[in-house]
Amino acid sequence: MSMVTGKKIGFIGGGRMGEGIFSGILKAGLIPPQDLYVADIREEHLEDLRKQYGMNVINSSTNDGLKTLIDSVDVVFLAILPQVAPRLLPFINECLDDDRHYVFSIMGGVLTTTIEQEIKSASLVRIMPNTPMSVCEGCAGIVPGKNCKLEHKEMALEIFNRIGLGLLLPEPQIDPLTGISGCGPAFCGIMIQALADGGVYLGLTRDDAIKIAAQTLVGTGKMVLEQGIHPEILKDNVCSPGGGTIGGTVSLERSGFRAACIDAVIDAVDRMNEVVK
Ligand SMILES: NC(=O)c1ccc[n+]([C@@H]2O[C@H](COP(=O)([O-])OP(=O)(O)OC[C@H]3O[C@@H](n4cnc5c(N)ncnc54)[C@H](OP(=O)(O)O)[C@@H]3O)[C@@H](O)[C@H]2O)c1
Repeated sequence: MSMVTGKKIGFIGGGRMGEGIFSGILKAGLIPPQDLYVADIREEHLEDLRKQYGMNVINSSTNDGLKTLIDSVDVVFLAILPQVAPRLLPFINECLDDDRHYVFSIMGGVLTTTIEQEIKSASLVRIMPNTPMSVCEGCAGIVPGKNCKLEHKEMALEIFNRIGLGLLLPEPQIDPLTGISGCGPAFCGIMIQALADGGVYLGLTRDDAIKIAAQTLVGTGKMVLEQGIHPEILKDNVCSPGGGTIGGTVSLERSGFRAACIDAVIDAVDRMNEVVK
């Protein structure tokens, strides 16, 4: 039995990441659009969302709008920017009914303990999502707050495993997850483009080369996840002695590709922490 069947889900903030999650929820068929609500402050943007997804939209530029959203739903996603939160959280807390509402926060870099200073007793789960959720191939770190109910934790796992991979993690591990999965779409985008450049150099059209590179990343990832093949074995399996793939592999190693990937994750997290300070 699904934990979300019959539940109404609302998003405060219908920006890039909020939309990534609710479009994934609809694509996965978790709930129908009439049970999905979004509150945002730009009328034109809300109208676009309503047209595209058939969901309920509410203008929350006033507290009345925020209250209407919270009163209409069982599950509230905080999908606003962290700098907007201090202004909204005290009023959101007043509107919450602890027996009814489950709160998910997707706000980057905002700890459960920080949210719990305002959302005092409601069941809270912090999520670190990423943009591939819009195609049900996301990766989410899931951190239950101190008052999180068991059913809420199970709901989080169900939702995020339906729109990708959901992992329960201790909160200090959210930063390293973010360095891989949150920043990863940029890193993988660069790799897709670079592999495609190689193909174009050798005569493929740009469109074909990008498709081939992207599908190769998708397929390789699925072999690791679905068949449990260690990445080193994947590499060894296609490197025949004296062959082309080992030639390309040696070239990647000489160029410091591995170290560049490791540094990208570490530097991304260092930079995020510098910005937060
Ligand atoms: N993008 C990512 O890859 C990513 C990944 C992980 C986590 N996150 C987190 O997700 C959250 C949202 O990020 P985002 O990229 O989606 O940002 P975004 O595109 O700026 O979306 C935030 C939305 O909230 C709206 N908003 C502002 N005040 C509001 C209010 N009073 N009521 C309702 N909506 C309001 C904004 O409207 P205006 O634009 O008109 O101000 C905007 O549409 C952030 O906390 C971020 O840290 C993002």
